[in-house]
Amino acid sequence: MHQSTLLAGFLRWLLLIVVLGRVGAEDAPPPSGSGPVRNGSFHWSSTVQEAKAEPMGRFVTFAFGLTNVSDQTASILGTESSCECTVAELPSKPWVFAPGESGTIHVRMNIVGRFGTVTKVVAVETSQGIQQLLVRAKIPVTPAPFNVSPRKMDMEAARKDRQVVFKGGCAACHALPAIGRHGKDLFTKACAICHLAEHRAEMVPDLAALNRPKDAAYWRDMVLHGREGTLMPAFGKEAGGPLEPAQVDSLVEYLLQAYPAAGANAKPGESER
Ligand code: HEC
Ligand code: HEC
Repeated sequence: MHQSTLLAGFLRWLLLIVVLGRVGAEDAPPPSGSGPVRNGSFHWSSTVQEAKAEPMGRFVTFAFGLTNVSDQTASILGTESSCECTVAELPSKPWVFAPGESGTIHVRMNIVGRFGTVTKVVAVETSQGIQQLLVRAKIPVTPAPFNVSPRKMDMEAARKDRQVVFKGGCAACHALPAIGRHGKDLFTKACAICHLAEHRAEMVPDLAALNRPKDAAYWRDMVLHGREGTLMPAFGKEAGGPLEPAQVDSLVEYLLQAYPAAGANAKPGESER
């Protein structure tokens, strides 16, 4: 009796090593069966779980419920997982369960830099042997290498400093094309890139739909100073922007004509200089 328990324990470890090795090698499909399981003293709500990651998420979490269904004390001694990216959180070690007591093991998978389907195994060592938990995350594909979109990074950078659009790599699209240009041409390169972009962010307004008086002073102020506390940058040289005074003058002239203060607004592309 004693020896067969030892043998069973040994076989479980052997199976665990095989499974961990296989999953670690190539995100293999999980074994079938994800319903409740009784193993020794513990009843597990499930041993296989799958979850969809949020598009920009860094972690996927899973919760496995367990109950000591025996009439004796039982414990969770520790956990082992197939990669450091996946951690099972225990409130204490050992974690002791009185008869009838329930708890939840939370498993956190770090998915930064991962996409597609990722499967990991956590081996939970109980006072009656090993229970494997299999977690599988479905992670949507994003273009950037670290699971963070370039667009989101741009917006974060601009939130910290709205003038950053004229610096470093941002300048290639947001400042350099404006150099030496005037009027409509300048508007196209400096302003339309955000304001007339087909897929612009929601907070970038349609200039034709602005519900306020739009005189020369208004346009000049917006161009020179932008709007503090928003993503609208200040284009004036004094504020660190790229535009010379003569360029600002030409832009104000164009804006007055393209977005008349009253009456029907012309589409910017339709008005000729
Ligand atoms: C390769 C060209 C390019 C570079 C480089 C670039 N942007 Fe943009 N940016 C765009 C375009 C195009 C848009 C219009 C929205 C769109 O189509 O994504 C835009 C829009 C924006 C917007 C308006 C919000 C939005 O997404 O609609 C902000 C803010 C912005 N960029 C900030 C930055 C910052 C900050 C950097 C540098 C860290 C940067 N951009 C680098 C091309 C660029
Ligand atoms: C990097 C993207 C970006 C560029 C480039 C940009 N804007 Fe904006 N603009 C914004 C955003 C974002 C807002 C919304 C600000 C807010 O939240 O109120 C805005 C708002 C505005 C407003 C409305 C402000 C109000 O009264 O509510 C005007 C006018 C405007 N921009 C003009 C311009 C002009 C002119 C240019 C070119 C010189 C320009 N913008 C270039 C992003 C941009």
